[in-house]
Amino acid sequence: MKSKIFYVKPSVTQVEIDFVLDAAANGWGEHCYDYIERFENKFKDYLGVKHVLATSSCTGAMHLGLAGLKISPGDEIILADLNWIATVSPIVHLMAKPVLIDVLPDSWCLDPFAVKRAISKRTKAIIATHLYGNLCELHELLQIGQKYGIPVIEDAAEALGSYYDGRPAGSFGVFSTFSFHGSKTITTGEGGIFATNNTELFNRVLTLSNHGRKQGEKRQFWSERVGYKFKMANIQAAIGYGQMTRFNELIDKKRLVFSWYKERLKNLPLMINPEPAKCKNGYWMPTVIIDKEINFDREALLTIFKENNIDGRVFFWPLSLLGIDTLVKYEDNKISYDLYSRGVNLPSYHDMTEKEVTRVAECLKISLNRQT
Ligand SMILES: Cc1ncc(COP(=O)(O)O)c(C=O)c1O
Repeated sequence: MKSKIFYVKPSVTQVEIDFVLDAAANGWGEHCYDYIERFENKFKDYLGVKHVLATSSCTGAMHLGLAGLKISPGDEIILADLNWIATVSPIVHLMAKPVLIDVLPDSWCLDPFAVKRAISKRTKAIIATHLYGNLCELHELLQIGQKYGIPVIEDAAEALGSYYDGRPAGSFGVFSTFSFHGSKTITTGEGGIFATNNTELFNRVLTLSNHGRKQGEKRQFWSERVGYKFKMANIQAAIGYGQMTRFNELIDKKRLVFSWYKERLKNLPLMINPEPAKCKNGYWMPTVIIDKEINFDREALLTIFKENNIDGRVFFWPLSLLGIDTLVKYEDNKISYDLYSRGVNLPSYHDMTEKEVTRVAECLKISLNRQT
């Protein structure tokens, strides 16, 4: 049997292990937040924003941010139908209404024209998810947001190391969120970050994140409101801090793996993650969309992967296809419904070898040869 090719796998070295050992041995009492602060500061330097807050997950960060924006029952939030469910679940929990709209065919991210069509009097935010490392049309989205007075939020869970106009994804929106789940380019096992330049919003989020206890409150255990508990542990932050000290190495490796795929797949009838002139793609998840003309059988490809001990992963389903009554599409969302069934994520991790990429590409070629 050939060796297993996992679809993702973190790169954890002695650097992270040493910080974790230190956190486990010494990170208590007066030092219980040391690595959280170090991790947050390192991340803030990368992103170039005023405030960040490490959280238990990206989902938690999104929940805090939306609650911080005072999203209330009946408010509408516009976001892409092609999305991971984590982006939409905090909206539903806050009893607001997700308005699921279509994406662009080339970036697979939010279509600004569809955003404009979906705006109503009740629209309170637009969430721009940078899918698989690809970037949303931030310029257009921010212009729309400004014109209609609607904040644009960035879900940058998958966009660490992606840049738009020379600035990191996640540094544009009223707030942004990142994920450090074990599958991500930089991990803390589970974890996230909330980031913003808006001090007022940050202070509200800080209070919400601490069970409603305001910073500087003199009375012990005094909550001014009911809040949340979405905190990151110091030990997790020690891993994250170690990963951040290796930031360039980790991003460069993901980009290298992508370049190997790009070379091997270049003459095949498919599209792969784009990198338009104004963008740099962190290539979290190399993804192929097979051309429409091909009678592509996705299940057959996944079977070939399985036979070759390779993890395969399908493109996200349109959320409105899941049959959940709160997740309803705004209009036809033709592009989303067209793309997903032709999309497959390819394995990518920092220590992946060129030979392993060749193995994956060969399976893809076999599958396409059978179907053309
Ligand atoms: C686009 C997107 N948003 C949000 C999340 C949620 O991240 P977490 O699992 O850290 O809550 C993910 C995680 O995979 C994601 O891919």
